[in-house]
Amino acid sequence: MWPGLPGFAKETGMRPQQQQRRKVAVVGATGVAGQHFLVALANHPWFELSTLAASERSAGRSYREALTGPGGALRWACDEPLPERFAAMPVIDARALDPRSVDLVFSAVESDAARPLEEGLAPHVPVVSTASAFRYEDDVPIVVPGVNHEHCALVKRQQRERGWRGFVIPIPNCTTTGLVVALAPLVRSFGVRSVVMTSLQAISGAGRSPGVVALDILDNVIPFIPKEEEKVQRETAKILGRLEGDRIAPLDVAVSATCTRVNVRDGHTLTVNAGLGKKAPLAAVADALRAFGREFTDLGLPSAPPELIQLTEDPYRPQPRIDRHMHDGMTTVVGRLREDSVLPNGVKLVLVSHNTKMGAAKGATLVAEYLVHRGLV
Ligand SMILES: NC(=O)c1ccc[n+]([C@@H]2O[C@H](COP(=O)([O-])OP(=O)(O)OC[C@H]3O[C@@H](n4cnc5c(N)ncnc54)[C@H](OP(=O)(O)O)[C@@H]3O)[C@@H](O)[C@H]2O)c1
Repeated sequence: MWPGLPGFAKETGMRPQQQQRRKVAVVGATGVAGQHFLVALANHPWFELSTLAASERSAGRSYREALTGPGGALRWACDEPLPERFAAMPVIDARALDPRSVDLVFSAVESDAARPLEEGLAPHVPVVSTASAFRYEDDVPIVVPGVNHEHCALVKRQQRERGWRGFVIPIPNCTTTGLVVALAPLVRSFGVRSVVMTSLQAISGAGRSPGVVALDILDNVIPFIPKEEEKVQRETAKILGRLEGDRIAPLDVAVSATCTRVNVRDGHTLTVNAGLGKKAPLAAVADALRAFGREFTDLGLPSAPPELIQLTEDPYRPQPRIDRHMHDGMTTVVGRLREDSVLPNGVKLVLVSHNTKMGAAKGATLVAEYLVHRGLV
């Protein structure tokens, strides 16, 4: 249900003042994740995209000019067309963004550049970030909607201890996202002790600067993505951990990740073997996956899919080309559910998760919607 429709405020528990549109900025608006933010925000009922920011390379140009390469090609990476209303908007240098001019900032730049920018913004305004700059700090939650949105409460500690009016909430690495969505129902129902995961990651996950060179990836698989496996291992335990007062107690789980890049444009495929805390029949595991996240999707937030997980019994699915678009890229498609005879109480599955939608811009937008719902923005 949409804000403005009768019954919305009642069903979501939103107060009328929460229905006012918030002004938002996107930092890194010209990149792959940034472009997806423009799509996610184009017709958003709660957020009005008022500021586009990027590096000094893009600053001073219109958005369309900033995206246009020297040969005249528009470097637009989304399936959806560039929303016309943003094409003529000016792009500013992110360092010149006045945090007081907006109610919320979406940050979508590489981690090294994100650190000083987010450090300058978060004292004044809430920042929802796709970058890893703050992910591993004690008072910073890494939030996946439907999985651990209750960790958002940790921003109160950030504000108290850092003296900030705003805060920073990162979303995870885009490979971690699909993994924790599939593991969360297993953790809740049976416990999870060990995970062995191999990713087949899409090209768009590497962004555009510099991105993946066509000659390297065509007809090929690249068996290494710098820092990726460490991120997946660390983030998984934190996200699936419990909020205990003012801190997150990470889940006691051993995670072994192998991350590879494959010749797919969008949509990360993961094979996941999980050792459960107790023996569970496959039918019970399937039920847990199917039922997962209803209490979150029932909130009716604008970017939420009707289901967080779709379980397929087709042995040839999920496939990134077919399944990444499920519910506009917000649903993780899980298939090939089987017993694993190597890990104790083992089960195994394959999943596809859209890295630039749920894994980046639209997922971050959903986090921001939840923050509005909670009265934190
Ligand atoms: N791609 C994905 O699927 C995905 C998924 C989840 C998370 N992420 C994370 O999202 C972030 C952005 O990734 P991406 O794939 O969108 O990268 P990208 O395509 O390379 O875009 C980078 C963006 O950052 C801007 N930028 C670079 N240096 C800057 C600086 N010093 N100050 C301000 N802006 C600067 C660029 O602006 P110019 O155009 O002006 O250079 C561009 O807008 C990264 O932290 C990445 O790890 C990406």
